[in-house]
Amino acid sequence: MNRFLRCLPKAATPLVITITIAMGATPVMAAQSAPALPQMGFNNWNSTHCRPAFNEKMIRGIANKFISLGLRDAGYRYVNIDDCWANWKRDKNGRLEANPKRFPSGIKALADYIHSKGLKFGLYSSAGTSTCQPLEENRGFPGGLGHEKQDAATFASWGVDYLKYDNCNNQNVPALKRYTAMAEALRATGRPIFFSVCEWGENKPWLWAGKPPVDAGSWRTTGDISDNYASMLKNFKQNVVLAKYATPGHWNDPDMLEVGNGGMTDVEYRSQFSLWSIMAAPLLIGTDLRTIKPDALKILLNKDVIAVDQDPLGVQGRQVSDTNGIHVIVKPLEGGSEAVAVFNETDTARKVSISASEIDLKKGMNYRFRNLWTHRARTGDGSIKIDLPAHATAMYRISRL
Ligand code: GLA
Repeated sequence: MNRFLRCLPKAATPLVITITIAMGATPVMAAQSAPALPQMGFNNWNSTHCRPAFNEKMIRGIANKFISLGLRDAGYRYVNIDDCWANWKRDKNGRLEANPKRFPSGIKALADYIHSKGLKFGLYSSAGTSTCQPLEENRGFPGGLGHEKQDAATFASWGVDYLKYDNCNNQNVPALKRYTAMAEALRATGRPIFFSVCEWGENKPWLWAGKPPVDAGSWRTTGDISDNYASMLKNFKQNVVLAKYATPGHWNDPDMLEVGNGGMTDVEYRSQFSLWSIMAAPLLIGTDLRTIKPDALKILLNKDVIAVDQDPLGVQGRQVSDTNGIHVIVKPLEGGSEAVAVFNETDTARKVSISASEIDLKKGMNYRFRNLWTHRARTGDGSIKIDLPAHATAMYRISRL
C-alpha cells in the first residue's frame, strides 16, 4: 500500500486527500479530519452536564462499557468529553490544563487509556474567550479564541482525535474566521483530528463549514437538544430539510442522542434513533452507559438501523412528504437499495398508506421489504400500509427482487 495512504485512519476515504509531491521535496501528507461516514460514539453532556459525576472515573468506565456491551463491535468509536473538563485558568505558559478535581491524572492519561481499548478520544472547547458553562464565581473555562495554535498543539500532544468547538463568548468575531483559525491550527499539527463545528446553526454552517478552509466533519444545525419529545421533534424538523448540504465526510448534526435518559418513551427513542440514522446524522450516545437499561441498549445496538446511518453511499435521506404530521424520508443505499422511514409526529395512532412512486420505486415491480425494528422481511409491490402509533417511526430497507 502507498505509504501515504497507510497513515490514514481506516474509515477515511482516500478521495478527500490531496498529496502534493514537488520535485526533490519531501512528500507531505495533508492532515485530514473527516471519516467518510457519520461519527459514532459517546459524549457525556446529555447525561451529566457539569455535575461532579463527570470525571475521569466515569469516562474510563464508559470506555470499558464500549467493549463489554458490544458498542465498539457495533461501530461506536469516539469517547468524547464535553464542557467543564478544563481548569479555570491556563497555566503560566498559557497552556490549557485539566481540571485537577475531575481529571487528576490529566487528559493525556485518559486519552491513552481510551486508545488502549481500541477507541478514539474527543475533547471540547469554544471558539470564544470562554466556554459556555458554568459562570460560577464569575469566571468561565478558557476558550480557544486567539489561542488556536497553542490549543491545537496541546490537543495533538495529548492524543486528541476529535474536537467539538462551541460558539459561546465569541466576541462577535465572524464565525467563518473563528472556525477557520481552529481548523487550520488543527491541520497544522499533522494529527488527524475530527473537527465538529458547534455554532447551533446560527450562521448557516451548512453553507460553509463542510468546505475548505474549514472542512469540518460535521456542523450542528440546531440549538441544544433536551430529553423530551418536543425538543427532539424540533431538531429533527430543522435538520431534515438540510439534506442536500450533507456529503460524505461532511454531515449535518441535529445534536446528540437522548436514548436512555428517561425523558421520552421507548417509542420516541426508537424514533430519534431511526430519524437520526436516516438523516445520516452523527450517532453520539448521550446516556450513562454504566447504568443503561436493556431496552435502551437494544435501540443503540440495532445493527440494521446503524447500517442505514453508516451506509457507504453517504447520502442524507430526503423528506419526500410531510403531510398532516406524517413524515416520509427516503435514503438511497449502496447497491441500489433504499431505506424508508415513516414517522408519525402526531399524538394519535394513524393508518398510513404510501404508494411505490411516492418513495421513488417503480410500479409493477416486486420488492423485498425488511422491517428494521421487527427484523422481519416480506415481499410486495413497493407500497406501504401500516398502523403507526403516536410518535412512532417505522423503518424499512427495500431492495428489488
Ligand atoms: C453548548 C453546546 C452543548 C454543550 C454545552 C456545554 O450549549 O451546544 O452541546 O456542549 O454548550 O456547555
